[in-house]
Amino acid sequence: MNIDNNSSSNRGHWTSAFGFIMAAAGSAVGLGNLWKFPYLVGQNGGSAFIVIYALLLLFIGIPLVIAEITIGRFGQLNPVGSYGLISPKLKWIGAMGLVTGFILLAFYPVVGGWIVYYLYHSFVSVGENPDYAKIFADYTSNPTLPIITLFIFSILNYIIVALGVEKGIEKYSKIMMPALLVILVIVMIRTLSLEGSWEGVKFIFQPDFSKVTGKVILSAVGQVFFSLSLGMGALMTYGSYLSKKDNLFKSSISIPFIDTLVALLATIAIMPAVFAFKFEPAAGPSLIFVTLPAIFAKMPMGVFISAIFFILMLFAALTSSISMLEGLVSYMIDRWHWKRFTATTIIALIVFLLGIPCSLSFGMLKDVTIFSNKTIFDSMDFLASNILLPLGGILMAICVGWIWDGGLRYETIIVKNQKGNPDVITNGYVFNSCLMEITNQGTLNFPFMSAWIFIVKWVAPLVIFLIFIDNL
Ligand code: TRP
Repeated sequence: MNIDNNSSSNRGHWTSAFGFIMAAAGSAVGLGNLWKFPYLVGQNGGSAFIVIYALLLLFIGIPLVIAEITIGRFGQLNPVGSYGLISPKLKWIGAMGLVTGFILLAFYPVVGGWIVYYLYHSFVSVGENPDYAKIFADYTSNPTLPIITLFIFSILNYIIVALGVEKGIEKYSKIMMPALLVILVIVMIRTLSLEGSWEGVKFIFQPDFSKVTGKVILSAVGQVFFSLSLGMGALMTYGSYLSKKDNLFKSSISIPFIDTLVALLATIAIMPAVFAFKFEPAAGPSLIFVTLPAIFAKMPMGVFISAIFFILMLFAALTSSISMLEGLVSYMIDRWHWKRFTATTIIALIVFLLGIPCSLSFGMLKDVTIFSNKTIFDSMDFLASNILLPLGGILMAICVGWIWDGGLRYETIIVKNQKGNPDVITNGYVFNSCLMEITNQGTLNFPFMSAWIFIVKWVAPLVIFLIFIDNL
């Protein structure tokens, strides 16, 4: 093995299992939960979408979260390095993840910048009967303002990652994640106590399966990957900072639960307010930036609720974008022995520049389209969320299920006695390196192991593949 001493001692480690859980849950909980999930529920048949999402989460998302973190902890390296330790031929899967990371970092912080602006806006009076759709359109199409706010968000992102694993990512995740949960509950209580909010709750829990099409299922798969931060190697990188003594299964399993809890709470916090003030639940992406500000303006204590809501959004977006950046930075540190400071500075600068055209695609560059009439921003989102992340997931499942030390398998083991006749016949799993890693060399219990193996080998690759084909 070719791990340079200098680089491995540079890498950092979580100081506790709690620190890892907060950082990884912080990565998962983000705009995907607070912004995309509620509007997807609004557009795609209420709880019909939630049911499909939950099935995909259970049968694909959760097993793959465990697989991804396992690869990282095994390799104790960035995604390229960790795949490379399984087999040098697999490095390109990790490299694909890095490319995905650049794409994600091009558009995600743009929305982070919008949040910075709306946080500021919460405190500023906007006049008698403001037109929030116009405020949003004017702001996002402005050539400079969104780039300034993008810059502010990028600086915050940069500082936390530059501070390192323990003193930056872990420390700030441990503050921001619990604060986020508290704020979310306060906002939810406020909106649920509005008159007429019950209609919204009914809307969320009434399934309308007529809205479910192949496209909806593809967007649910995309959402599972995006929301869990799966498929680019962000969780793998975080897994690489786990110590070999930690209980990997126990720490990993709480991440999808926290993630889903926040997505549901956010939906329950937002939809009732939308109904109480008779807005359109299927507003789509503008839900947070047009509908909600209008609601906050009408709501008693609206300024306060608006301010804490956008602080919550800011925390969520930051803890997610730091995980994207860390994936790229870790590669530069491990592979090229860059100092963390240098690596973070250069990569943060590159992704800030990549963000500019994405930001401008709401104004100056709005007529520039890449994929089937999608703007630059929408194309980046589509390419990353609906194509590259699920593809990364299929490749990861195939690698763990079929390639890593012969793949996961169940065999009949025959032990012969001295005369050469069969003596003991047992059925059992052949413990390949992946299972060894999850169970700390067989010393820990791994619940649902058979189901997990079956899913990683068969269900996940086949289902994602079929959904892809169906959509082409
Ligand atoms: N999970 C985050 C969200 O829901 C986004 C995110 C962070 C992400 N890191 C990622 C998505 C890595 C894919 C890959 O907003």
